[in-house]
Amino acid sequence: MLSNLAARDVETLIHPYTQLAAFRETGPLVLERGEGVFVFDAEGKPYLEGMAGLWCTSLGYSNRELAEAAYEQMLKLPFQHLFSGRSHDPAIELAEKLKEIAPVPISKVMFTCSGSEANDSQVKLVWYYNNALGRPAKKKIIARRKGYHGVTVATASLTGLPANHADFDLPIANILHTSCPHHYRFANEGESEEEFSSRLATELEEMILSEGPDTVAAFIAEPVMGAGGAITPPEGYFPKIQAVLSKYDVMLIADEVICGFGRLGEMFGSTAVGMVPDTISVAKAITSAYMPLGAVMINEDMYQAMLDESRKIGVFGHGFTYSGHPTACAVALKTLEIYERDGIVSDVRAKTPHFQKRVAALREHPLVGEARGIGLIAGLEIVADKATKRQYEPKEGVAARAIGFAQEEGLILRSLLGDRIAICPPLIITPEEIDMLFDRLERALDRTLDWIVARKLG
Ligand SMILES: Cc1ncc(COP(=O)(O)O)c(C=O)c1O
Repeated sequence: MLSNLAARDVETLIHPYTQLAAFRETGPLVLERGEGVFVFDAEGKPYLEGMAGLWCTSLGYSNRELAEAAYEQMLKLPFQHLFSGRSHDPAIELAEKLKEIAPVPISKVMFTCSGSEANDSQVKLVWYYNNALGRPAKKKIIARRKGYHGVTVATASLTGLPANHADFDLPIANILHTSCPHHYRFANEGESEEEFSSRLATELEEMILSEGPDTVAAFIAEPVMGAGGAITPPEGYFPKIQAVLSKYDVMLIADEVICGFGRLGEMFGSTAVGMVPDTISVAKAITSAYMPLGAVMINEDMYQAMLDESRKIGVFGHGFTYSGHPTACAVALKTLEIYERDGIVSDVRAKTPHFQKRVAALREHPLVGEARGIGLIAGLEIVADKATKRQYEPKEGVAARAIGFAQEEGLILRSLLGDRIAICPPLIITPEEIDMLFDRLERALDRTLDWIVARKLG
C-alpha cells in the first residue's frame, strides 16, 4: 500500500531512468532532507548517499555557505541574462576562476544549465568552428559505446547506451561510436591493459581512415565513464587515443561532468588519466549540485572562429535564458572557494588509498567479478561465474536487487547496465563513513548471494 505522498507521485510524475510500468507497483523513495553525506526519507530513516545524488553533491547535503550564497545573490540580483552583451559580477568572476583552474589553456567560458546542454553546445560549436574554417565536410563526432553525454537529441546520440537510442529514432547523422575501453569485459584472452589500449587506438585510427579524416571533427570522452558502468580506463588508453586524434586533426572534447572538481583526486579528471583536451564540459560538482549549472570551456582557436562567424552572420546565435544565471554562478563561486579553502582535492587524494582498498577487497566476494576505480569513484560488476565472467540473465536484475538490499541497509547506490554497481559518494565523506558505506555494501552483497541461492539462479 503506497503512502499518500507516494500515491500522489505515481499519479502525477514521470521519473527519468525508471521502468515506468514497474514503478506503478513499487512507488517512489521519497526523500525529505539531507545532512552531511546522509539523506532522510519521509519516515526519518537515514541513508548514506553513496552516489552523491547523481555523481554531483560533492559537498554533501547541508552546506549552509552554499545556501547563503544563493540567498544573498537572490536578494541582490536574482536574475540577469547574458544576451546582447548584458553581464553581471558572478558570471564574470566564475569564468575567470574556471580559466584559472582549467587543466589546459582556456580562452572563454560559455554557461549552460546542465551537462547535456554543455555537450549539446559542444556539438554545435564543433560544427560552427569547422564551417568557420571552411571545412564543411569535417563534422563527424566519435563517441564511445557505453559513454554517457546527456539526453538532448544530439547528446543522447553521443551517449552509447541502447536505451537512449531505442525508439527515440537516434542517433542522428554524423555521430559514430567506437569501442568501450573496459578491459575486464572486452579485452581478449591474455591481452594486457596496454595491449588492449593499443588495439582500441588502432581501431579508432581505422575508423577515422575509413570515414575519411576530412570528415571527422571531434572525439568526446569522459575521463572515467559514469552511467555506462563506472568504468576506469585501462593503462595507456588516453595517450594512445590522443596520438591518433592529433595525427588526423581531430579535437578532443573532455566530458568532465562527473570527473571535474576533484572526483579523481585532481581538480580535473583529464589530468588524472592523461587527457589533454581542446575543449571541456563541466556541470554537477561545479555547484555541488545546489543549483543547476554547466559550462563549456573553449580554446582561443575556437573563439577566433566564433568571432569570424559572428561578423559574417551578424550574431552568435546560441545561448539559453539561464546561461550564467547569477544565483547559480554565485553558488558555483562559493563551491570553488570551499574546494580551495578546505583543500577538498588534496583531501580526496588522502582518502583515496583507504577507499580504493575497500573497493579492492570487494573482489573477494563470490559475486564480484571486477571492482575498480580512481579517487572516490568505483564500479563493480556482479557475475555468475568469476572464472568465465559469465553474467546472470539480465531479466533477473541481480544488481538492481543488490541495490534494493543496500537501500534496506541504509545505503544508496546505483545499478547500471550489465549488472554493474556504481559508488561515488560526496567528496566530504570521512574515513569512518567510507567504512560504513562498504560494510553496508558487503551486507547487501551477502543478502544478494542468499537470494540467488534461494532462487537457484545459475
Ligand atoms: C559524463 C556526463 N555527461 C553529461 C551528463 C548529462 O548531464 P545532465 O544530466 O546535467 O544533463 C551526465 C549526467 O549524468 C554525465 O554523467
